[in-house]
Amino acid sequence: MCGIVGITGVDDALPYLLRGLGKLEYRGYDSAGVYVSDGFNGGYLVKEKGRVSALVKKAEAAHVHGTAGIAHTRWATHGGVSVANAHPQQSADGRFYLVHNGVIENYQELKDRYLSGVTFHSQTDTEVAVQLVDKFAKEDGLSAFDAFRKMISLLDGNSAYGFLLMDRENPDTLLAAKKKSPLLIGVSDHGNVVTSDAAAMLDVTQDFIELHDGDVAVVKPKQVEIFDAQGQAVEREPFHLDIDPTETDKGAYPYYMLKEIDEQAVVARKISQYYFDDDGRVQNISCAISDAIRAADRIYIVAAGTSFHAGLVGQRYFEKWAKIPTEVHVSSEFAYDQPMLSEHPFFIFLSQSGETADSREVLDNIKRQGYPTLTIANVVNSTLTREADFALPLLAGPEIAVASTKAYTAQVIVQAILAYSFADTDFNLKQELAKVAVEVSAITDEKETFKEIADTVLHNQRSAFYIGRGLDAAVALEAALKLKEISYVQTEGFAAGELKHGTISLIEEGTPVFALLTQSKTAGLLRGEVAQVAARGANTVIISSESLARPGDAYVLPEVDELLMPLLAVIPAQLIAYYATLDRGLDVDRPRNLAKSVTVQ
Ligand code: M6R
Repeated sequence: MCGIVGITGVDDALPYLLRGLGKLEYRGYDSAGVYVSDGFNGGYLVKEKGRVSALVKKAEAAHVHGTAGIAHTRWATHGGVSVANAHPQQSADGRFYLVHNGVIENYQELKDRYLSGVTFHSQTDTEVAVQLVDKFAKEDGLSAFDAFRKMISLLDGNSAYGFLLMDRENPDTLLAAKKKSPLLIGVSDHGNVVTSDAAAMLDVTQDFIELHDGDVAVVKPKQVEIFDAQGQAVEREPFHLDIDPTETDKGAYPYYMLKEIDEQAVVARKISQYYFDDDGRVQNISCAISDAIRAADRIYIVAAGTSFHAGLVGQRYFEKWAKIPTEVHVSSEFAYDQPMLSEHPFFIFLSQSGETADSREVLDNIKRQGYPTLTIANVVNSTLTREADFALPLLAGPEIAVASTKAYTAQVIVQAILAYSFADTDFNLKQELAKVAVEVSAITDEKETFKEIADTVLHNQRSAFYIGRGLDAAVALEAALKLKEISYVQTEGFAAGELKHGTISLIEEGTPVFALLTQSKTAGLLRGEVAQVAARGANTVIISSESLARPGDAYVLPEVDELLMPLLAVIPAQLIAYYATLDRGLDVDRPRNLAKSVTVQ
């Protein structure tokens, strides 16, 4: 969703800021803006609707120059998509400029109470915040720092914010603050930065200080001061982020999604190397995690979207290998309608970004109730990983495309390994995952086949179905999400046995129905369901596994253990979604209305 970058202490801030915004594009946004101070009590404010490239053009035409600045990509929440609502928002007299991630819940109340005489130029909650800073500076004679803190102190407890403020009277200083929304300070000998996503500023530094909730920081070219929620000066050690900046480039690929689909075999190997020793024993899962899970009478997996779908697969592993009853919940539901819990629950939060607001809300609630929590996330040092009792990395590398692919695969594998670490079995998971990696590569090598399926079966179609039974039903949900979110083909994924209970009435002549058929126990039943929809005119596409294949199946997956077949079955679905989207001429990586990291509830 929204993204923040700021920099101070460089010769020319604009290129850094614009490059940073470019790196934030993947998170989803609908407008962007930049403020650069000229160092002499003046500055440039440029904002534009739509893509960062439009802002780049406008900023270049305005000949913006200066040594410090802030910039933002906005995903509209309060107020529509417009230049006026884009950030930075400025105070009435143009002294203060503010960018903001998050939502100020009581902004209307604050506006009515403190700012009745002020003319507003946007509909944003952010403008209320910057006008408040201005008012407290002017009327109460407060310094920018104190006025900023006073504004923050008035925000409703539920408000989430990452703020970055500039004051024309201190043109080289950035004031940063955060709560429930990530904000990092990047330090280097050639300028300091502030960003909501380290990936945006890796070309300046790989050393970051993480701000804690309630912190306010003063960032100057050669100095960083941090004050905690009580106003005490605190030292926070920087951490070094070991990311190769080129990992966030798409190289020769036309889209990140295709690159990330192709990376899945490597990701599978990388995870195995990390979590298994040479003898195939599980490593790098602490005794504390194992003991906490062993003590549980039930596991609750909490997640959203694709991560929720990965949880549905993981559930089988925990029940089969760890022998612990497991439930999977959508975080946005769990947050406000908590089900009855067992006596000794253990919570697993699954997330690519580690920032999903719905999941964070559940984690907060669960921590208050004192239950043990583990986050399995891709972004290390993300809020969910920091705030849970335990964390395990997904090791998928940066995932940029909005449609999650390699993170799903990584989530399934890491859950499998975690569950397997409790298993009393001769099954050799390390060996089987090595096979999975080989077969994933083999499937991704057959792109032409999936392009052809997409072009012939989905061309001009408005709706489609993915069906399966057992683990295939779980994959069908993910397959449907992949197709609908990027190609806009309205796709339903569900348990095939449910067809006859209602959905079969939607089948018309030519309706595409994809069947995932990899589970032997229910293969016969699923064939029957495919026959039922075919008899009613559906265009059926069966994706089966070698041992269950029959002539006429559209694609036959190589064989690995049935429990791990989701890792193979999902790949054709990812590629079909990709090619169906290309066929429609849409932006694969940036589907409309969506954001990579969903930081609002
Ligand atoms: O970062 P998270 O895994 O917590 O995000 C949850 C969902 O927003 C996410 O999985 C979303 O459904 C995918 N981008 C869809 O491909």
